[in-house]
Amino acid sequence: MSPLPRVLLARKVTPAAEERARRDFDTLVADHDLSTDEAIEAAARHKAVAMVIGASVKLDAAAAARLPDHVKIIANTSVGYDHMDAAAVKARGIIVTNTPDVLTDCTADLAFMLLLAACRRAHEYDVLMRQGWGVKMGFGEWLSMKPSGKTLGIVGMGRIGRAMADRARGFGMRVLYHNRSRLPAELEKGAEYFESMDAMLPHCQILSLHLPAGGGTLMTREAFALLPKGAVFVNTARGALVDEDALIEALKSGHLFAAGLDVFRKEPDYDTRFAELPNVFLTPHIASATQETRDAMAMLALDNVAAICAGRPALTPV
Ligand code: DGY
Repeated sequence: MSPLPRVLLARKVTPAAEERARRDFDTLVADHDLSTDEAIEAAARHKAVAMVIGASVKLDAAAAARLPDHVKIIANTSVGYDHMDAAAVKARGIIVTNTPDVLTDCTADLAFMLLLAACRRAHEYDVLMRQGWGVKMGFGEWLSMKPSGKTLGIVGMGRIGRAMADRARGFGMRVLYHNRSRLPAELEKGAEYFESMDAMLPHCQILSLHLPAGGGTLMTREAFALLPKGAVFVNTARGALVDEDALIEALKSGHLFAAGLDVFRKEPDYDTRFAELPNVFLTPHIASATQETRDAMAMLALDNVAAICAGRPALTPV
């Protein structure tokens, strides 16, 4: 019997995925999410052909050059792979995979939750209740913004952007989008295409980002200024897309009514000035963090490892 392929699980995964990894492969299971150096050292020590990694393993070109020659596949457990220089890794002859599709619904669900929470002042009401309520709320006081029927702008109309648009249609919203290219009508489903993001922004009562990082800062001070006064901003994509100083200023000045944020520039830290703003609803990069989705993400990463080890093409190559 041929020996099982050697795999490094460089991040903690769900129990079901860990059990499968231990059963189907000769797996070295890390007891924490490994750093880049730890992961490269462990892969070399275990003579791993496959590394299953998350964002704690940052493979820039220099780190990619240090990957052991026996590594054949780097299987990311996330759909985003901005923590690595995929071109540099692939130039080493190593397959890179990610986990598209399986987290689409959960990410759009959380983005819509942030949208509703921001519009309806969920954070402020929750704090008020936990402090004992105790204030008389006049008929015209403590009012929020009605999300139903508003105009939502989506930047990035890939799978997650389209799932966000589907949810918005259920709330009677008009959907605008900016994307690299216009979608065919069956995917567009009536959403209105803007070739230029700047041309779209003045029409967006709510704006939600659904594109990968890598193209620099998209939401600059100038971009926020193009949104109409009182707009709501939602980000479940990546913090690197946003000038956070400009966002904080826009929230403080009232140019933005509110924001719902799941992603930040310096994770797992974040700019704690956000926490001082009552009109921000914050979550710690957990859009995909449901039991079902995290199982599916880890299993897809292992499916990719199994395919490569069996001499088949990867299911979801980058
Ligand atoms: C992803 O998969 O890229 C999500 O942001 C979760 O990390």
